[in-house]
Amino acid sequence: MSDLALLNCNIPGINENCTVEVENGKIKSIKKIGPKCDKIIDLKGKILLPGLIDAHVHMRDPGLTYKEDWKTGSRAAASGGFTTVLDMPNTDPKTTTAERFKEKIQIAGSKSVVDFGLHAGVEKLDEIPKIAKLHPSSFKIFADIVDNGFLMDAFNEVSKLKYNPSTQGQKAEKYPFKPLISLHCEDKDIVRHCTDKLKFGGVSDSKVYSRARPALAEEVSVSNIVTMAEHSNIHVHICHVSTSKSLEIIRRAELAGCMVTCEATPHHLLLDSSSFEEFGTLAKTNPPLRDGKYRIKISDLDSIDIVGTDHAPHELLEKGRDVWNAPPGIPGLETALSLLLTQINRKELSFKRLIKLLSENPARIFNIPKKGSIKEGMDADFVVVDMKREGVVDPKTFQSKAEYSPFEGFQVKGMPVMTLVRGNVVMDEGEVFEKKGKFIHS
Ligand code: NCD
Ligand code: ZN
Repeated sequence: MSDLALLNCNIPGINENCTVEVENGKIKSIKKIGPKCDKIIDLKGKILLPGLIDAHVHMRDPGLTYKEDWKTGSRAAASGGFTTVLDMPNTDPKTTTAERFKEKIQIAGSKSVVDFGLHAGVEKLDEIPKIAKLHPSSFKIFADIVDNGFLMDAFNEVSKLKYNPSTQGQKAEKYPFKPLISLHCEDKDIVRHCTDKLKFGGVSDSKVYSRARPALAEEVSVSNIVTMAEHSNIHVHICHVSTSKSLEIIRRAELAGCMVTCEATPHHLLLDSSSFEEFGTLAKTNPPLRDGKYRIKISDLDSIDIVGTDHAPHELLEKGRDVWNAPPGIPGLETALSLLLTQINRKELSFKRLIKLLSENPARIFNIPKKGSIKEGMDADFVVVDMKREGVVDPKTFQSKAEYSPFEGFQVKGMPVMTLVRGNVVMDEGEVFEKKGKFIHS
């Protein structure tokens, strides 16, 4: 007898009416007929998707918990259909040493209601091999705040790591970590030059923000990074690509043999710089929302590997400062799925592509072998969606501490109604149940 059976599931690409049997947190079988079981949930024909993996979240814990913490951030994840989140290292302190990395595993492990992985930051190069032993999701570098010399040294250090796919019988010089660098690509010098020109020229309208960090800053940085990646033979993952030219540079590099993958956020895919008019600094994020003629669109998703939310929560009070002093960042965990399901209802996107972008590809890129698809033996991580349910984005209903969104007022059709992590229900009809999330091991 198994622990749980999900009846009458409609799994895109697999089966229109089947039963998924769960045992010990794993998928035991996917069948036509219902098995004998302790607990049954009847989905009544609703769509069952693999749990979503958000490879780009800022949970702000430790140190910046007035913005978000692992409890509220992971509740936001559960609420939005995400069963795994990969957290960024720009907390306080930053996750740049093996000690800090271990501390963050403890903090997240005691509070998170969904499973999690951690990106490591890079400061001291001698910490890189130490952190590599602890299963980081990637080494994350913010190219908008470091020099080329530092980038060069960091690439060189990461390229020395020798990956050992089987962690058993591991030799001292081999690591479970598959060398991967995630990057925030905006050229530091161009950003500083353009920002100073506007800032000290007395301009303070939030609409100028896209010009303070222009498309060129991103494109120069992306070119630079793919060149470094080719040179050191490292897989690079480019976070939050915002312009179609950046995508073109990435695809050209890929054709030339560079190991490069990329990510886009829902806000860069669906909004443009006109959002500044209505939302001011609430729409401020890095890289900025772009003018219509440069920006990426939903139709570009065929050449994008993953959607990451860049859930970057801040306090409303600090977001209310002027354009130069308000912190950049938009919360995204609770809006991403319903915004994309709306695109599916409008026939702009397919379930097949959505599953690739938010489950299969993040699992593959960040080396999470037991997650990302509905198959026997995989973790029983699911999100149930109701494609007929309609609503309006209302930040006041967020689980996140950051109750703002430039999507406020957006009409959506298609919403997550239940989230399960390893067979445990963590969200049902908007209510979150606090189960214990686990640190992900490859
Ligand atoms: C991020 C944050 O707030 O941590 N902000 C953002 O605008 N995306 C940091 C960053 O990626 O620059
Ligand atoms: Zn970033």
